[in-house]
This record gives sequence, structure tokens and C-alpha cells, in this order.
Amino acid sequence: MEQQLSLLLLHSPKGASNEEPLIASVPSTKHHHGRTFVKLFVYIFLIALAYYFIISSFAVPPIFLVLPESGSGKVSSTKCDLFTGDWIPDPKGPSYTSLSCNHIQDFQNCMLNGRPDVDYLFWRWKPRDCDLPRLNPSQFLHSMKNKWLAFIGDSIARNHVQSLICILSQVESVQEIYHDKGYQSKIWRFPSHNFTLSVVWAPFLIKFETVGSSDIQLYLDQLDHKWTDQYSNFDYVVISGGKWFLKTTIFHENNAITGCHYCKSSYNLTDRSYTYSYRKTVNLVRNFILNSTHKPLVLFRTTTPDHFESGEWNTGGYCNRTTPFKQGQARPKTVDAEMHEIELEMLQNPREGSGSNIRLLDTTAMSLLRPDGHPGPYRHPNPFAGVNDRRRVQRDCLHWCLPGPIDSWNDLMVETILNREQFF
Ligand SMILES: *[C@@H]1O[C@H](CO)[C@@H](O)[C@H](O)[C@H]1NC(C)=O
Ligand SMILES: *[C@@H]1O[C@H](CO)[C@@H](O)[C@H](O)[C@H]1NC(C)=O
Ligand SMILES: *[C@@H]1O[C@H](CO)[C@@H](O)[C@H](O)[C@H]1NC(C)=O
Ligand SMILES: *[C@@H]1O[C@H](CO)[C@@H](O)[C@H](O)[C@H]1NC(C)=O
Repeated sequence: MEQQLSLLLLHSPKGASNEEPLIASVPSTKHHHGRTFVKLFVYIFLIALAYYFIISSFAVPPIFLVLPESGSGKVSSTKCDLFTGDWIPDPKGPSYTSLSCNHIQDFQNCMLNGRPDVDYLFWRWKPRDCDLPRLNPSQFLHSMKNKWLAFIGDSIARNHVQSLICILSQVESVQEIYHDKGYQSKIWRFPSHNFTLSVVWAPFLIKFETVGSSDIQLYLDQLDHKWTDQYSNFDYVVISGGKWFLKTTIFHENNAITGCHYCKSSYNLTDRSYTYSYRKTVNLVRNFILNSTHKPLVLFRTTTPDHFESGEWNTGGYCNRTTPFKQGQARPKTVDAEMHEIELEMLQNPREGSGSNIRLLDTTAMSLLRPDGHPGPYRHPNPFAGVNDRRRVQRDCLHWCLPGPIDSWNDLMVETILNREQFF
């Protein structure tokens, strides 16, 4: 079960998966003539809905109205736990649309793919004890002058960077200056601010090898040089790990095989939990950051929860909710709880104190409250066309729609970057 879920993460950035030839051949940044009408329709629909929401915001349940929008009694976000709070209605809606941003990967472009509901776009994250300002793109670009920010991780890191680019490119358009062969790692520049932004594909953060279709060889005592080689360039880093550790993996330590996770019985190896490899990885990453003489500000983004219900991605699991959970309504899955626990245990060490350059971007709890934020079947246009049994259409309840809830990850990221103190 664990492993099946993680297979979803294998999708290459261009959307190339075997069952998706339609999408695979078209890079996501190109405009498609055939879609102009769809886009226009979606756009008009969205404006109409935004209007509807503004009008109907008087009908918001009273509980939301007692929360102050701003003003007296507001606690400065430097002294506030940004990661505990609730999602509250936000008539303003997202700062971009699929029409105004052409950096959204097809798989996550829910509006364009025909997701019919839009309520999920009209919520904002409200920390319990303070207000979280919305990312101000001009201000942020200004403070990032001559700086380099890198996102390191798997396809969720890519999902996150695309959200940031969409928000920022409303102010200044971005130039792609590098991509690797598989479009997995990329570098962009915001020229008038000389702000450089990267995404580095390092799904395990540590060294891994796959030969042909064999299982993944995972080296628990070696970091992935893809990111460590470039580390000294970066001023800010957002790093994350997670679901890939659920795959079948053979563990190597000190030049010997020390076990495996999700073993095949023929291996005759000690079967160890993914918690073994993940804990070692987080520890190795942490030590590298703390020992390195180069000191960027590193945000470790905690594990992202999925919301498959009644099954997994290929066993009929779905996520068709259209509103957020309230605090306490959602229970984390064991996998997410365990990974999150490792992250806190390894990175929230009080002895490191404020002298450490590592911060937690603890988005797990807020994301858990957003079962409505995933593409579900809307991974490509007309997902149900010519399908007899709708339940058989593959859902994605792991990645996030753009625009969508993870736009708020960027509000949190910017607060954490610009206010170096962190409350715990
Ligand atoms: C642009 O920023 C990079 C660091 O990201 C720096 O090395 C370079 O000197 C800057 N260029 C200019 C013209 O300031
Ligand atoms: C598997 O390991 C056990 C204990 O180490 C050993 O007794 C057994 O012979 C091994 N089997 C195979 C097929 O290698
Ligand atoms: C790095 O730091 C950790 C503890 O912070 C320490 O145990 C380790 O020996 C240090 N050196 C290297 C090369 O990792
Ligand atoms: C979600 O899908 C399930 C299974 O198809 C269905 O029973 C349920 O009514 C749906 N819920 C919503 C809100 O559409």
C-alpha cells in the first residue's frame, strides 16, 4: 500500500507517464490554441465566482467573523507560531490564475483541466495568534536582490516552486536559464532583481541508484551530490524529503548492504522500516548543514500529507471534498505522522538554539486540513471522457492544484525568511 502511493511521485515533470501520452508530448509552458476557449471560459467563470463570493461573504458563519482581520492586539509574526491555526474564508481568492501564469504543470492545472468547483480557492491560512501577511511579490523580489533561492526535493518541491513563480511572475516575468535533460532540475532568473531561483531534483536527498528496472539502491551515509555540489551558491534553501522512502529500497552503509525496506522475500535481507532510512537521511542532511562553513538560511519543509480516501491511488482512492477540514477534523495517516515526528525530533533540537541556520517550515498540519486542494481526477482535461467506470480513473490526492492551498506555503516561507526568529 505504502509503495503504491509513492509510485505517483515517479511522474516526470513533463507529465510523461505511460498512461498519459496525451500530456507527455507537450511541455507545460507552451500555449495550446485548442485551449484558448477553455481558458477564456474558466476565466469568466472564475470572475463570476469571485463576484459571487464577495457578495455572499456576508453569509459567512459567525464563528469566522469574530477573528480580527488585522489591527489592535495583533501579535507580530516573529513571536507567533505560524503553523498552528485555521483556514478562514478569503473572498480575495488567489493572486494568479491558470490564465495569468504559464508555469503550472499540466498535472496540477486543475482549473484548466476542468475541475468544476472553485470554493477551494477562497481560503487563507490564519495562524491562531497573529495574521499571516500575503506574500508581497514586489517587496519579496526587492529583498531577494542578487540572492539565490533553491528548492531541493521531489515533485512536491517542484509543485511548491511553481506556486512561487506564479505569484512572483505577476510582477516580473521570469527567464528560464537552465534545465536538465529530463526537465527535473531547473534554474530561473528574475532579471531586474538578479534573483535566481532553482529547483534541484533530489527525491531522497541522499545518494541513490537504479539499474534498469531493478530496485532502488539507497546509500544511507552519502548525500546526493546533485544538491551538495551546488550548495555553496545558495543564499536560501527550502529542502524536503518524504514519500520516496516508502518505495522498495536496498540500504547500503559503510560499503555493505544493511537491509532493505519493503523487501522482496528472495532478498533474504533484514526488512527495516522507512523510518530507519528517513531518520538517517534527515540526520545526515542536518549534520551537513550544521557543519558546512557556508551558511545559507535553510528551511526544512516538513512532510506533505496525502488525502486518498477509501483506497490508494490505484485502488479507487479518491479525494472529492470541496472544503477544508476544521482543526481536529483530520487525523494524519501513520506514514505522515511518523515522518513528521522524525523531522521534529531531528530538526527542532532546542540545543541548536537560534544560532542554527535551520528552520522548520512546518506545513504538515495546515496541509492536512486541505483535502480539497488536490487535483483528484483533474490531472488532465476531460478525465472522464470515454470512461465507463468513473471509479477507475486515476486520482492524484498527493500533489496540489495551482492555484491552491500551497500558495500559502510561500506566505509562510517568506515570513520565515524575512523574520529569522522562529517560535517553538
Ligand atoms: C547576481 O547575483 C549573483 C548571486 O546570486 C552574484 O554572484 C552576481 O554577482 C550578481 N550580479 C550582479 C550584476 O550583481
Ligand atoms: C538467509 O539467511 C539465513 C540467516 O542468515 C540463512 O540461514 C539462509 O541460508 C539464507 N538463505 C538464503 C537463500 O540465502
Ligand atoms: C558534523 O556534525 C555532527 C553533529 O553536529 C557530528 O557528529 C559530525 O561528526 C560532524 N562531522 C561530519 C563530517 O559530519
Ligand atoms: C465522493 O465520492 C464518493 C464515492 O464515489 C461518493 O460516495 C461521495 O458522495 C462523493 N462526495 C462528494 C462530496 O461528492
